[in-house]
Amino acid sequence: MKRWARALYQPCLPLGRNGQRVTGCEEHIDLSRRAAAEGMVLLKNERGILPLERGTRLALFGKGCVDYVKGGGGSGDVTTAYVRSLQDGLEMKEKEGKVQVFAPLGEFYRENVKNQYDRCVLPGMTAEPEIPGELLEKARAWADAAVISICRFSGEGWDRKGVLGDGDFYLTKEEQKMVETVTASFDKVVVVLNVGGMVDTSWFCSSEEIPGVLLAWQGGMEGGLAAADLLCGDENPSGKLTDTFARTFDDYPSSAGFNESEEYVDYTEDIYVGYRYFETIPDAAGKVNYPFGFGLSYTEFEIEPIRAGEVSGIIRVDVRVTNMGNRAGKEVVQLYYRAPQGLLGKPLEVLGAFGKTDLLAAGQSQVLRLELPIADMASYDDLGKIQASAYVLEAGTYSFRVGNSVRNTVKLDYEYRAEENAVIEQLTGKCAPTALRTRLLADGTYEELTQYENGYEKNQLVPQDIETLEGVEPDVQGIAFGEKKEWADADRITLEDAAEGKAGLDQLLAQLSDREVAGLLGGQANAGVANTFGMGNLPAFGIPNIMTADGPAGLRIREECGVYTTAWPCATLLACTWNPGLVFEVGAAGAAEVKENNIGIWLTPAMNIHRSPLCGRNFEYYSEDPLVSGRMGAAMIRGIQSQHVGASMKHFCCNNKETNRKDSDSRVSERALREIYLKGFEIAVKEAQPWTVMTSYNLMNGYPTSCNPELLQGILRDEWGFEGMVTTDWWNHAEHYLEVKAGGDIKMGCGYPDRIMEAKEKGLVSREEMERCAKRILQMILKLD
Ligand code: BGC
Repeated sequence: MKRWARALYQPCLPLGRNGQRVTGCEEHIDLSRRAAAEGMVLLKNERGILPLERGTRLALFGKGCVDYVKGGGGSGDVTTAYVRSLQDGLEMKEKEGKVQVFAPLGEFYRENVKNQYDRCVLPGMTAEPEIPGELLEKARAWADAAVISICRFSGEGWDRKGVLGDGDFYLTKEEQKMVETVTASFDKVVVVLNVGGMVDTSWFCSSEEIPGVLLAWQGGMEGGLAAADLLCGDENPSGKLTDTFARTFDDYPSSAGFNESEEYVDYTEDIYVGYRYFETIPDAAGKVNYPFGFGLSYTEFEIEPIRAGEVSGIIRVDVRVTNMGNRAGKEVVQLYYRAPQGLLGKPLEVLGAFGKTDLLAAGQSQVLRLELPIADMASYDDLGKIQASAYVLEAGTYSFRVGNSVRNTVKLDYEYRAEENAVIEQLTGKCAPTALRTRLLADGTYEELTQYENGYEKNQLVPQDIETLEGVEPDVQGIAFGEKKEWADADRITLEDAAEGKAGLDQLLAQLSDREVAGLLGGQANAGVANTFGMGNLPAFGIPNIMTADGPAGLRIREECGVYTTAWPCATLLACTWNPGLVFEVGAAGAAEVKENNIGIWLTPAMNIHRSPLCGRNFEYYSEDPLVSGRMGAAMIRGIQSQHVGASMKHFCCNNKETNRKDSDSRVSERALREIYLKGFEIAVKEAQPWTVMTSYNLMNGYPTSCNPELLQGILRDEWGFEGMVTTDWWNHAEHYLEVKAGGDIKMGCGYPDRIMEAKEKGLVSREEMERCAKRILQMILKLD
């Protein structure tokens, strides 16, 4: 096939074996189901209630059993051929003779939810109906056990609520009533949570009335069936939490200030996010219901450290994991380190490495090797307490623990001793706070922060009317798709020539007028099934129009195109597998669908930190912990790019709130930025080199991320060695020419070539700066086959 033919001609060429399509194929849907089962977390299993005994008669309660939420809204949504609810999943198990399901309840909820959908209520936003008394009586007389399902939905542009009794983080009053009714009527009750983020767990955590709880997340199109696989024991749970589930919403350190203002968010808890807060800060430990890393199995594992030591600057720990029970299963081993408090102060526990076993048969063992570079234990000294703007490994003893949650670990005999403070990496201060006054310290007190004036450039043009920017489609700069192609003249250097090494990109770009270069720096018209626009599109120079597509839960194509794709489980669930190999497989399979549909850039993975349970897009993100986020993101990127499709790691950075997301300022210390909010992105860049990075909508320390030279050039490129292209998020509110100057290569959904030209004429941006961005766009296109 001719290079870029998919972009140029949009042919419908299936990529599967024997000419079959891979998009939404059985193999991918099966992988989606397997991944879903592997990331669901068994939170509670008392009195041996799970797995359900063969033949158990089940009564399914809660509209969540049929109103299944496969994933969140916006870029994380996917058009699928079908979605399987928990009711569907358990009914399939009934056909296999594994359980029996009380049908009249299913009919009641299906009818009720359908009526609500008919009134345009979105899945997951439906109200909990009251259970008719007669139906309850019949169910009680017939069934051995009850299953309750609670579902939650959230999406782009809005945040969740954390008000007791008002739903979302907490149960609604109607849900509470339903739970009370069911627990009063049944002895055996299992709860299935179909949610995309942290929710209240206090209503079942220590309740004797609810012995079984499965955190089933938003599991993609086969999520209901995957949950049924686990409930019936066809799969053994091996998911572990990648977030801390606190006792109440108010117990999270971010809660108090989350809604303080729509203009800013102060990251006052600093590096003490998630378990770093709960394990470290005095009196916080008691505020946890389910700790980070926690998850039960239907079997028992013994985790036995067998060797630990240092090899060439890397702490290496070998751990033998033995399945002591009588069912096959997988276990996750987590290595935590404890650094000396020193002058900088440290979290009590930090996840340093993790590994997951293969499926171990009863009695079988496996040795896992966990590796933690000593340098990774250094802390960033932003205030110069030891050495300013450097990663410092403070003198003292570093101890290590291994186990299967942050709370269930054993201490290793081996310790690492740093005799004196060591500067691991000397950097220069960047992106320092301009309006964050205090931050939390490890002992629970706060310290004052110095405020900086950033020297970033101010917009010299008359600002655009931002109201008019939203959703504007790109002008057709090259050709509209389907028009006669005006092919490159014979004497021109084309991108094909550059691909074949006959000429350099600089020579190609030198032929372009300023207007043509400016045109390249923005989004291009859609072609084929794409709906998030293209990049490139200058046919006179043989530059194809490379389409982009969302998103983290699968290839998102509009329903009217009639192409059904695979909906993968939400990113948080994928992270809870703690299995980068599986995430790689999902990335590769998803990217094959992207490619088959003639799209070159997949706008995923989304890697922001779960700072607060309220962030409306947490389901798209992996974890409260940067190592987990970074490793999962890297695996996803490697999977995607193994198909020669570009990944777009997003939203860089500090997009941890959706309300007023295009103008809200995330105010954060440089230490928290580097150790928490940037760390996952750093790991992914160093491990996987994404072809593109998407900046966030929000401001960070008073300035848009998309035109921050310290972030895009200083940190991303110079410090981390990023070799790819930077895109904005779609229709952000920042000035285009300032982005170009900072190394923000392309503005999406559309660019503003006229404003670039105006800035160029006024001497505010140079041809050189424009070409630098254009070149990176072309380099990205050259990577596509
Ligand atoms: C979202 C991005 C998404 C883009 C394109 C934006 O609103 O924030 O995550 O990739 O739209 O759909």
